[in-house]
Amino acid sequence: MSQQEHLIIFDTTLRDGEQSPGASMTRDEKLRIAKALEKMRVDVIEAGFPIASPGDFEAVNAVARTIRESTVCGLARALDRDIDRAGEALEPAERRRIHTFIATSPIHMREKLRMEPDQVLEQAVHAVKRARRYTDDVEFSPEDAGRSEIDFLCRVIEAVIDAGARTVNIPDTVGYNLPHQFGALIRTLIERVPNSDKAVFSVHCHNDLGLAVANSLSAVLNGARQVECTINGLGERAGNAALEEIVMAVRTRRDLFPCNTGLDTTQIVNCSRLVSTITGFPVQPNKAIVGANAFAHESGIHQDGVLKSRETYEIMRAEDVGWTANRMVLGKHSGRNAFRTRLKELGIEFDSEETLNEAFARFKELADKKHEIYDEDLQALVSDTSSAMAPERFKLVSLKVCSETGEIPQASVTLNVDGEERRASATGGGPVDAALKAIDAIVRSGSELKLYSVNAITSGTDSQGEVTVRLEKEGRIVNGQGADTDIVIASAKAYLHALNRLLSEDERRGHPQMDEV
Ligand code: KIV
Ligand code: ZN
Repeated sequence: MSQQEHLIIFDTTLRDGEQSPGASMTRDEKLRIAKALEKMRVDVIEAGFPIASPGDFEAVNAVARTIRESTVCGLARALDRDIDRAGEALEPAERRRIHTFIATSPIHMREKLRMEPDQVLEQAVHAVKRARRYTDDVEFSPEDAGRSEIDFLCRVIEAVIDAGARTVNIPDTVGYNLPHQFGALIRTLIERVPNSDKAVFSVHCHNDLGLAVANSLSAVLNGARQVECTINGLGERAGNAALEEIVMAVRTRRDLFPCNTGLDTTQIVNCSRLVSTITGFPVQPNKAIVGANAFAHESGIHQDGVLKSRETYEIMRAEDVGWTANRMVLGKHSGRNAFRTRLKELGIEFDSEETLNEAFARFKELADKKHEIYDEDLQALVSDTSSAMAPERFKLVSLKVCSETGEIPQASVTLNVDGEERRASATGGGPVDAALKAIDAIVRSGSELKLYSVNAITSGTDSQGEVTVRLEKEGRIVNGQGADTDIVIASAKAYLHALNRLLSEDERRGHPQMDEV
């Protein structure tokens, strides 16, 4: 395959994806996702926005130190301090990219930046030149390009390419474009910008009208050779283009696309589950490619057709994206080596023997309660272990609930708070409500519960329940997850996970597009 035919997959789950309210990730969580993306052979991983917070800087730096195969990218506004910080965070990377941006649409320049177009152009050029001090691999984005004036956009793009940008990314920041229009925009830019052959044209589409994937694909058909996307379509507001949909559309319709990706598509389902478990954003069952029903045939006519010839109703093979039949992978007689090996196959490695031992002890406990342990169980168990082992203020010591027909449910909880045991009891509308109220009687967080959801991780009544809790306090939103075969305990774990995040200063993050330049 020639260079021209390669479609670069730029994953921004760890940056734009993290901008979904409640999806902020810790350094270790980002590292786990980055390793899974590298294993899937994603070309570029945008690991974060280093100037946004010390936590974000740390995360980008950790990804830069760890990832060897994919290019690691950091976002920076077109400001010296942002670019220098990104350069510093990316310093240890084998392959590094700085992605700098400034808005070019009339409304953004006038209302947000309060700058004249010529000042914007000058700042864009300056930013690209500054970024080139740190790496040859510089990407420039004219933010809100989808609503920018074409003549000005052409001028800016020509100037940043001259200044040394190797990738020019065209964002439809507010998800306003329609596919035919966005495709035509890309074609026009490539045709009209005199030095367009010196850069790769990229696209970054938001999903406000549900068109992010369609717009990105239309752009590819019109010459774009990089797509920015996220696992499960996570991202600011309605999200970004879903990586799995882009990659599988290009692969399935190779008769129409003049390019292909180098991804190992069998890693897609794993990555999707990992991101969903870590962020607490469940994947809807009918989601393309990675939804639980994406390959399930319900109607008799369909089932009959598929049994006779799979191609009657299937355009892709489930195993090509990593679906395996729910199979028992481990049981209570499995040893540490089998446990470690299976997790490695799932892209999960332990950074210390201590974490492995803790996870293995939990696995044994789970195997006593649930005889068949599936991949989904293991993924939830590892997430649970890393949150339990993190230095958290509130830890669950014990929980007792009484629930009986005709009686008011009651819960008594013991927490370890900063090393000291504290107890409280409460009643509630049900056992979960009582347990969460008992916890709140100790923590007194002042937060508001925005979402509570419970999913069975596998089938069967002995399945682990995976609970997601979303809390809000003073405009800050966090998610927490917990898994257990007992859903009341899973709920308490999820609630504590969210509370620990909410009350930890380190997790405060800025949102780049909301900041002033
Ligand atoms: O949506 C957007 O415009 C962005 C840019 C920073 C590329 O995320
Ligand atoms: Zn974006």
